[in-house]
Amino acid sequence: MLIRFAKPSDVKPSEITPRSVYLDRRAFLRTAAVAGAGAMLPLIPGGAQAGEKLSDVAKTPYGQDETLTSMMSVTSYNNFYEFGPDKRDPSRHAGDFKPKPWSVKVDGLCAKPGEVAFDDLISPHKLEERIYRLRCVEAWSMVIPWVGIPLGDVIKRFEPLGDAKFVAFETVMRPDEMIGQQRPLLNWPYVEGLRMDEAMNPLTILGIGMYGEVMPNQNGAPVRLVVPWKYGFKSIKSIVRISFVADQPRATWNEQAPHEYGFYSNVNPDRDHPRWSQRRERRIGELLKRDTLPFNGYAEEVAQLYAGMDLINKDF
Ligand code: MTE
Repeated sequence: MLIRFAKPSDVKPSEITPRSVYLDRRAFLRTAAVAGAGAMLPLIPGGAQAGEKLSDVAKTPYGQDETLTSMMSVTSYNNFYEFGPDKRDPSRHAGDFKPKPWSVKVDGLCAKPGEVAFDDLISPHKLEERIYRLRCVEAWSMVIPWVGIPLGDVIKRFEPLGDAKFVAFETVMRPDEMIGQQRPLLNWPYVEGLRMDEAMNPLTILGIGMYGEVMPNQNGAPVRLVVPWKYGFKSIKSIVRISFVADQPRATWNEQAPHEYGFYSNVNPDRDHPRWSQRRERRIGELLKRDTLPFNGYAEEVAQLYAGMDLINKDF
């Protein structure tokens, strides 16, 4: 997201300026340089749980042909507004966040609602490693080896009812530990949503780690969504609530600037953002830009979910 704030109260999408784009590019170049020198630096700056290894993770074929983005870049140049609007803020400010103990409330239109401890949410499932591309709406991208479990398998355990057409997600609200939440940067708590068939699609996972380790705080500990064919902001972090609902739920960036960020937000090189092209992207750590692929390269798996929809003007 390119919103920069002169004052904490100035939260208007219209304030995005060419200067901020320029500053972001400079931040990118710094990151690329840092990534090159990554071996000399601590791996997860600020991450409270840095380095805790995950065991029993099954390898999968997903993304085996991809070149991974360095862990240093993924954990130190990212968006997590709860820790501040700058891409360096999450790694700077996430160190005091406490992802344990954790529980997730599951409610709404399902036969088995309840408050579930993190371990009970995850442990019935086999952990998988999946290498996915993450395409940010700001036209940069990363390749990340996520560790997680299919969201669809989790959803089934709660037995959603027939009229549950969407799944809504909510991030934890902890202004004492998340300094970004002390300011009205966004309409807290961060919320997101998927249509039920998107949530059930085999590509969609609940991520609990990356690079074989537990999820760093700044990347959404302890549990977040990963939806690889959508712009990064759909992949909501630090989830405390999952609700089955009949109508399209609220989504933070869609609410903030509906003409810029649609509810679906499928990666689409044919639909420019109102203020910049989405045709090309810069993979963090690389100098040359590359073409952005429809559905971020996952069209074969998901394009059929949107058959007959107007993905340019209406359902973007
Ligand atoms: N979730 C919450 N709760 N708050 C946020 O600010 N940022 C989103 C998404 N999830 C965000 C969030 C955006 S804009 C992106 S690009 C991805 O997280 C970044 O994920 P990463 O940190 O793993 O790269």
